[in-house]
Amino acid sequence: MSTNFKKSLIQWSNDHKRSLPWQNTKNPYFIWLREVILQQTRVEQGANYYKSFIEKYPNVENLATASLEDVYKSWEGLGYYSRAKNLHETAKIIHEQLNDIFPNQYEAILKLKGIGEYTAAAIASFAYDLPYATLDGNTYRVLSRYFGIEIPIDTTEGKKYFKQVANECLDTHQPAQYNQALIDLGATICKPKNPQCDHCPLSSNCVAYNNNNIEQLPIKSKKIIIQERFLNFLLIHINEHIFIQQRKEKDIWQHLFQFPLVETLENETISESFLSHYYSGNFQILEESEIYTQILTHRKIKAKFWEVKVSNFQAPKDWLLVPFEQIKKFSYPKIIRDYLSIRYNYIY
Ligand code: ADE
Repeated sequence: MSTNFKKSLIQWSNDHKRSLPWQNTKNPYFIWLREVILQQTRVEQGANYYKSFIEKYPNVENLATASLEDVYKSWEGLGYYSRAKNLHETAKIIHEQLNDIFPNQYEAILKLKGIGEYTAAAIASFAYDLPYATLDGNTYRVLSRYFGIEIPIDTTEGKKYFKQVANECLDTHQPAQYNQALIDLGATICKPKNPQCDHCPLSSNCVAYNNNNIEQLPIKSKKIIIQERFLNFLLIHINEHIFIQQRKEKDIWQHLFQFPLVETLENETISESFLSHYYSGNFQILEESEIYTQILTHRKIKAKFWEVKVSNFQAPKDWLLVPFEQIKKFSYPKIIRDYLSIRYNYIY
């Protein structure tokens, strides 16, 4: 069954090449960047980030010697900023300890910070044609449907089983083409919703297609619990300047900048006296915004922005007072950029 699978898949991929900016590259550094970026976003948007990353940092040395703030700025909008930090740290290790040479064995690649089994298999197969199967969301979906596997993919048992199936199916003579084909099939045909089974090269032998339960697969055992948070950001204006603050805690958006924050349980009306309770000073609330929303993997964030004016204000030590026209230099969460682009016509 796996012979049919790989044959039909490779045949299909020969006829359906996607035109993407990274096609045919064997450069492990480019492949690493591409895969880390694509874990964060769709291919269309990822392609733009990829192009700007390789333009700004054309080799591992350029990335290693850039400042962390610069890398965060380039990553802005992709979320999960620890990934950007790991990229930078790993680039430094390759530059300083490995003479700018990317490791060319799976185990050595896997040891690098921020590189898990998926990315290590991607680099090993795409750059060096080593026989490692990439197992990402796309491949879990295709394999679970084609073989009718009902073991939940988010369990230890499921992970082990799928890894075994993925390695049995792998075309070890052309692992790069095979892995890319499987990812592409999952992204364009065997989609989570509305799969295009009529155009699928594998449908005649696909167990889920024949059992009519495509949309039930793959199975996950845990339901994601979404936590709601309500954030009030204060845009405290003082003589053409404004306060910002870097998020340091181990929480969402670590390292990004924000306006001073008051987190409430829900949408509360905030008053001058309420604010003086949090921060010592006299506030004058000029404006309150609509509610903005941002969905993260496990959270729904709602935020309201308060335009506030102060005179003589005792700011906490870790706040920065920046000229208003310079606020764009810093990296912010998407919800803040959305507000700035609507309220102040900022273009991001
Ligand atoms: N998503 C993750 N890796 C990918 C790749 N190599 N090509 C297209 N989409 C991807």
